Parts: sequence; C-alpha cells; structure tokens
Amino acid sequence: MAGRRRLSYFSGCDYFRLSSHPKVLQAVNEGMRRFGLNVAASRLTTGNHVLYDKLEERLCDFFNAEEALLLPSGYCGASVAAQSLAGQFSHALLDSRAHAALIDAAVFLECPVLRFQHGNVESLKQVVSRCGQHARVILLTDGMFSHDGSVAPLRLYRQALPKDAWLLVDDAHGAGVLGETGKGSLEHAGVSRYRTVQCVTLSKALGVYGGALLCSKSFRAGVIKNSRQFTGTTPIPLPLVNGAIESLGLLASDPAFLVRLRNNSNFVKESLIQAGLNLASTPGPIIRIVPRSTSAAKQVSAALLRAGVFPLITRYLDRHTTGYFRWVISSEHTRSQLEALCKVLGRHAALFET
Ligand SMILES: Cc1ncc(COP(=O)(O)O)c(C=O)c1O
Repeated sequence: MAGRRRLSYFSGCDYFRLSSHPKVLQAVNEGMRRFGLNVAASRLTTGNHVLYDKLEERLCDFFNAEEALLLPSGYCGASVAAQSLAGQFSHALLDSRAHAALIDAAVFLECPVLRFQHGNVESLKQVVSRCGQHARVILLTDGMFSHDGSVAPLRLYRQALPKDAWLLVDDAHGAGVLGETGKGSLEHAGVSRYRTVQCVTLSKALGVYGGALLCSKSFRAGVIKNSRQFTGTTPIPLPLVNGAIESLGLLASDPAFLVRLRNNSNFVKESLIQAGLNLASTPGPIIRIVPRSTSAAKQVSAALLRAGVFPLITRYLDRHTTGYFRWVISSEHTRSQLEALCKVLGRHAALFET
C-alpha cells in the first residue's frame, strides 16, 4: 500500500507467496495451538521435538540430501557449517560479491580468505594457483545472487578446484527456485553433493522462517559435535516448523508453482528484451535494471506509481550510486500485473543503461 493506494509488489523474495498461503497460515496457527511458541532450550538438552525430525526428513526428501540440520536462521547456516570445519583448510576462497552471511562465516574457518572476481572461473583459477600445490581449500559462494539474479557456475568451479576441495554454497535464493525440480543451484549446475554443504533458508521460497544445512551424515554429526553456535541456541519456534512442513508439502505436491514462476519470469524477461532493454541472462526470477541517472530513476518511478507498481530502488552494496530497480517475480503475479510492469519499463527503455 502507498497511502491509500494498492500497488503491485515486485520486491521481497517470497517467490511462491507461501508466507500468506492459507494452508501455511493454518499450519502455523495449528502448530501454535498444539505446541506453543518455544521449546526454550537447545536441541541437545531438553529442546528437541519430533517436529524438528519431521521437517529435517521432509527437507532431505525434497532436496534429495542425505541429511538436513535445522538452524534458527538462514543467515547462521554458513557460520555454523564453517565453525564445524574450523582449522581444516589452508585457504578459503570467497566470491567478491558473496552475501554477508558467507563473509562472516569465513572468519570461523580460521585460515586466510582470498577473494576471486564475482562468478569468474579464470579469476578463481588464478587464486587457486596462488594457494600452492598442497593447499586444502574451501570455496564459499551464493548459489543465486540476490543483487542481480546471477548464479554461481558450480560445475566449472568444481573443475577448477583441487579434487579434495569443499564447497559451501549459500543457496538462500536458489533453493526451491533453481533446477528442474527446485532443488536449487546444485541441481541447476548438475553437480553432486560430494564435499558440498548447501545452506538454505526457510524464509524465501518456503515463506516461513529459519534455516537448514543440507549435508552428509558425517558432516551433520560434526556440526553437532563442534559448532558452539548450534549447540548453544534455541531452535526454530514449533509453529514455524509446522508451517514449513506445509510449505514444503505444497511445493513438492504441486509442480505448477515452479512452472508458474518460470513462465512469469520468462514473460517479463522476454517482454523487456523485446522492448529494447539490455538484460543480463539469468535463469531465475530476479531481474536487475540500472537507470542511467538519478533523474531517470525518478522519472521511471513516477510512471510506475501512476501504473500501480511499487517502484523500489535498491542500493545493495553496489557500485551503482544511483541505485537500481530489482524486480523479483513471483509465481502468483497475475498476467495483468506483469504487463503493467513491462509496459512502463518498455516505454522508458531509453532511460536505462545498455
Ligand atoms: C544470500 C542470503 N543468505 C542468507 C540470508 C539470510 O537468510 P535468513 O533471512 O533466513 O536469515 C539471506 C537473506 O536475506 C540471503 O539473501
């Protein structure tokens, strides 16, 4: 809402609008009624509950992972994983545009952190060669980057890395969205889970809250043994766990969610390209468009408002000081909402960077 007007919203990453799906809300309410709000203890003392085991099982089924470990937030996933791996590597290799969660996580690895250029395999190779012959490395990257929708070329990274390297993938945006069946950036890239930890959030595609690591049995056991962050914290509130179980069930049982998301994203991308906008080629529902100047941004924003679209300008730790439009497409946007967005952006194509 802007004042008293209802506007179409293309921000936030509630890709399937599950945060307001009636069945998910009902599951959260039911969870509250049956289980209360909070277990008020670590899972390793008196805070475990069968519902946590159930959600972990469902996550394993959905993502085809050996094990899952729930965490209080998506943000802490990478840190928890890194804490359990501390001291095992000679170098950590970090994408230069990695999310803050990975930058913080790298500190827990207790080794030098080397950055490579965003998504750039050649740059990665150079950094790997600087690590020396006997290096033991771990690469940290987002699966899909939220600032522009680009994805990490995980298959090429695997080929460029030593055989015993680890991958720590923050897949907050890829999970549920990328890959043929929504398993995320590993499925999209066609890479195995060998020496790979996939960090997912329950707060985006699933529309709820919390995080999880998808990993091997032995890795999960290592986290429980070695991560103080895991052992010393209260797990996700049970009503939210109940909600996430419902969300996963909806996505798993109805592939139409993913089909609608892809159709909607493709419709917008194709319309904008036809109208003359220069879009980066990305597989997901995040579209970044950079206005030429602050006055161009204002002009487009005013036109969007007139057409009933919320015109959010994002400044995402980015070199673009004027900020940019980041459109996040959802499976539930209607065709007329998408058309309204494309019509205004297309009419103003000349005001965007080429
Ligand atoms: C790439 C990435 N990682 C981690 C997070 C944190 O996830 P959560 O909000 O579930 O803590 C976010 C959320 O904004 C994100 O975009």
